[in-house]
Amino acid sequence: MGTGPTRSLPAVSLHVPRYENHIRSRADCGERFCRYRLTHTAMRAVRFHEYGGTDVLRVDDIERPTPGPEEVLLEVEAAAVNPVDTYFRTGDYEPGELPWIPGSDCAGTVAATGERVASVTEGDRAFATGLGNWLQGTCAEYVTVPESHLARLPDGVSAEAGAAVALVGVTAWQTLVDACSLEPAERALIHGGSGGVGHVAVQLAAANGARVTTTASPAYHNQLADLGADDVFDYSRDDLADAVVDAGAPDVVLDHRLDDYLAFDAEVAAQGARIAAIGNTDLAATFENVPRCRAKALSVHHVSMFNTPEFGAVLSRLATLMADDELTPVVARRYDLAEVPAAHDDVRNDSFLGKLVVTP
Ligand SMILES: NC(=O)c1ccc[n+]([C@@H]2O[C@H](COP(=O)([O-])OP(=O)(O)OC[C@H]3O[C@@H](n4cnc5c(N)ncnc54)[C@H](OP(=O)(O)O)[C@@H]3O)[C@@H](O)[C@H]2O)c1
Repeated sequence: MGTGPTRSLPAVSLHVPRYENHIRSRADCGERFCRYRLTHTAMRAVRFHEYGGTDVLRVDDIERPTPGPEEVLLEVEAAAVNPVDTYFRTGDYEPGELPWIPGSDCAGTVAATGERVASVTEGDRAFATGLGNWLQGTCAEYVTVPESHLARLPDGVSAEAGAAVALVGVTAWQTLVDACSLEPAERALIHGGSGGVGHVAVQLAAANGARVTTTASPAYHNQLADLGADDVFDYSRDDLADAVVDAGAPDVVLDHRLDDYLAFDAEVAAQGARIAAIGNTDLAATFENVPRCRAKALSVHHVSMFNTPEFGAVLSRLATLMADDELTPVVARRYDLAEVPAAHDDVRNDSFLGKLVVTP
């Protein structure tokens, strides 16, 4: 949605007091009206003022942020919804001082740049992540982004695709490439291949020349094979461990449900395997046979996407893969700002392949 002058008038009168008594209509204001259009600074943003359920989310009219010297103001065309948005909303993770704008990634057009920004200029298309945690989030018409947290979006790649790939793509990169050093011809096991992280990790591992085993509900098996998975198994089958080992013991495992699968991972893993641990439903996860882990020389890497040292550098690599058609994020559903509460519900409770995307 745009920021047309009619809808923004009440907020404008707050921010541009010089003109508030003079604006009567487009016809009789002439130049003054144009001046107003250039200076108004309102935007719509989803915010929560207290922690809680989806009912704490509301759309507020607030002042548009101003970029600092090393920041970029992005006009948001698309923002993605991630499970972590719901952890911040409930207060399980504390994002910063309330009220808070949820959303950790987005894509759009550069509307302004700080004086020390060199990599993008006004009008460039860019995508970003690492937001929504200490830095206000992306479910808004505009967001300020540190230059280090964004990269240019290639021509031909949509803003929805950029938003859909950003957080999960950086997560897949930090786990498979950075933490686990996945090499061509190695075998990767991606649990939950239909998820936001999973469907990008499958493509990244395949693009890296690895052989890919993934697990998912049967409805998604054909699509995951199309995305590059060599072997796809129903995660609820009783003989899952046998099926995974028969396909090839994994050298690298991406595990988003550690409490369910840590012992399983150790059991099926190849000698010297690396396990990337990104998520859990219960707090505790255990190995059932520690000596066997030792004998296999297993390593476990706990990864938080928010610890990525240089988001923009990883996003640039993902941009290249998208431009080369080696990475195609899937947008499962779209929501407007008022529907973000439903999107938070869906990301936790519904089944879909790919990503949920908000278009302000
Ligand atoms: N550490 C980090 O930096 C980081 C970054 C991103 C995400 N995460 C965490 O990683 C997890 C996944 O994130 P996401 O964005 O991919 O979430 P998502 O899009 O909701 O995907 C979750 C996937 O898990 C699948 N699943 C459900 N039960 C399963 C089971 N028993 N075995 C295997 N797969 C199962 C779901 O499939 P169905 O649809 O068939 O149920 C779905 O495809 C979340 O806990 C998230 O918080 C961590």
